[in-house]
Amino acid sequence: MATATPLPTLPLPLLLLLTFLSAAAASPHISAVISQSGLDFVKDLLVSRAAETIAPLEVPDIERSVSIPVIGTVDMLASGIVLNGVAVADSTVAVGDDGIVVAASLSSVNLTMRWSYSYSAWVVTISDSGNASIQVDGMDVGISMGMKNQNGSLKLFVTECGCNMKGLDISLNGGASWFYQGFVDGFSNHIRSSVENAITNKIMEGASKFDSFLGSLPKKIDVDSIAAMNVTFVSDPLFKSSSVEFDIDGLFIPSDKPAVSRHMHFGGVKYVPPLGSSSKMLWFSLDEDVFNSVSALYFKAGSLQRMVDKIPDQLFLNTASWRFLIPRLYQKYPNDDMLLNISATSPPSVRINVGRIDATVDLDVTVNVLDFDEIVPVACISVSVAVSGAAVVSGNNLAGRIELDYFSFTLKWSEVGKLHTFIVQSVMQILLKKLFVPYVNSYLKRGFPLPIIKGFSISDAYILTSQSRIIVSSDVAFIGGHTPYLSQ
Ligand SMILES: *[C@@H]1O[C@H](CO)[C@@H](O)[C@H](O)[C@H]1NC(C)=O
Ligand SMILES: *[C@@H]1O[C@H](CO)[C@@H](O)[C@H](O)[C@H]1NC(C)=O
Ligand SMILES: *[C@@H]1O[C@H](CO)[C@@H](O)[C@H](O)[C@H]1NC(C)=O
Ligand SMILES: *[C@@H]1O[C@H](CO)[C@@H](O)[C@H](O)[C@H]1NC(C)=O
Ligand SMILES: *[C@@H]1O[C@H](CO)[C@@H](O)[C@H](O)[C@H]1NC(C)=O
Repeated sequence: MATATPLPTLPLPLLLLLTFLSAAAASPHISAVISQSGLDFVKDLLVSRAAETIAPLEVPDIERSVSIPVIGTVDMLASGIVLNGVAVADSTVAVGDDGIVVAASLSSVNLTMRWSYSYSAWVVTISDSGNASIQVDGMDVGISMGMKNQNGSLKLFVTECGCNMKGLDISLNGGASWFYQGFVDGFSNHIRSSVENAITNKIMEGASKFDSFLGSLPKKIDVDSIAAMNVTFVSDPLFKSSSVEFDIDGLFIPSDKPAVSRHMHFGGVKYVPPLGSSSKMLWFSLDEDVFNSVSALYFKAGSLQRMVDKIPDQLFLNTASWRFLIPRLYQKYPNDDMLLNISATSPPSVRINVGRIDATVDLDVTVNVLDFDEIVPVACISVSVAVSGAAVVSGNNLAGRIELDYFSFTLKWSEVGKLHTFIVQSVMQILLKKLFVPYVNSYLKRGFPLPIIKGFSISDAYILTSQSRIIVSSDVAFIGGHTPYLSQ
């Protein structure tokens, strides 16, 4: 009798989760984590800008009929109510399960307004008007926001937003004393709720501007005419205790930027010691695939090859130098200049490990002779080069440098007979050390931009390499510029 072996059963929620994860497919290659100190930094920036832009705030007019003993019904109007300014006494930001809560208490809040009233006393209408100022004891405002991934962009939504005014003190200029009490009794609560509503609306308006700003963030960052970084968000932000993680695709894709010479200046490259506090504002984690994707793009674009006609020891590049060592070369092409075609035969592969970055580059070095202005290939040597690297942060870019570890070679083909191993060995040594490594380093020095929002700059970065990833942690400074969501 056949018995079916039951499949190991997974709890349904776990199964659903697994299905969901594989359906989401896109895996992040770069994650950015904003820590509590980073959130505090952003919060301070946003709250102070919000406080600056909130005033002057116009509050809608309030009209009421108030019943006054002896006098009767009086129509009263509070108009031209303007909030003149607020000062932020204190503010906090906290991360909840599904969003961020920002709260602020405001002080020295004051308003100015005009008042008027009119009532009928038998056949005449009696009216008066004047101005008033209102001093508010304090005000608490708060907003809870969540964020979702919508089509690769961030979508911000407000789950709660409120404003609560503490006591308020109205001073009227002019007016009869009966009017004063009637006005305060009849208008205090209305003024309070109108101001609260106006502030709430203003904050919601700011949140919506911030949302459009997030929605307008580019989905790629061009590096040069070949490569651009895909900065599409691949999942919803993760709200953890006191940090928020953003996952982006992070791989390099072909750029559609017109070819211009890469001319970026970042000042001196700073080699950052691998020490630092854990209180950095921002953490990036970039996996190996990021580096391998850019290497694949450059390879595919054919930019990993160079024709070399000058080397540090120029004598090597004339057949006369090889007269005795490679007699057939000299016999065939006496006294001719030589050119070397150095080209990668596969995309260089990058491996990252704890405390190490390694790469291997497979090159074909084709030896050419310049014979009556014609380039004639005479031999080809396959070289496998192992380099080790270090990453540095330069400006907002992740840059690097390499050193030669070792290399091995084989003669691929030759039309001038066998080449002595020791000759190839010593020429390659010079070529790689004096030409290849400096050349690669001149490119790596510029690096590529880390995905941070325009207007911010990275400071005090330090770098850690761990299993298949590079982790950059840094503080962030606001250098100004265009911040559309903060302006009116
Ligand atoms: C960018 O990344 C997203 C998410 O992984 C992916 O869907 C999209 O196809 C990528 N864009 C390009 C041009 O490859
Ligand atoms: C009203 O608020 C503004 C801005 O905060 C402040 O400069 C001004 O001194 C305040 N006026 C009074 C009377 O408190
Ligand atoms: C308010 O009224 C007083 C007295 O009527 C006047 O001196 C003052 O300039 C007025 N202030 C405003 C802002 O209209
Ligand atoms: C999603 O993004 C793609 C490409 O950026 C765009 O063509 C498409 O209209 C967007 N869809 C929605 C629903 O926003
Ligand atoms: C250099 O060599 C590569 C591969 O061997 C070849 O594709 C390329 O055309 C050569 N470049 C020149 C300028 O001859």
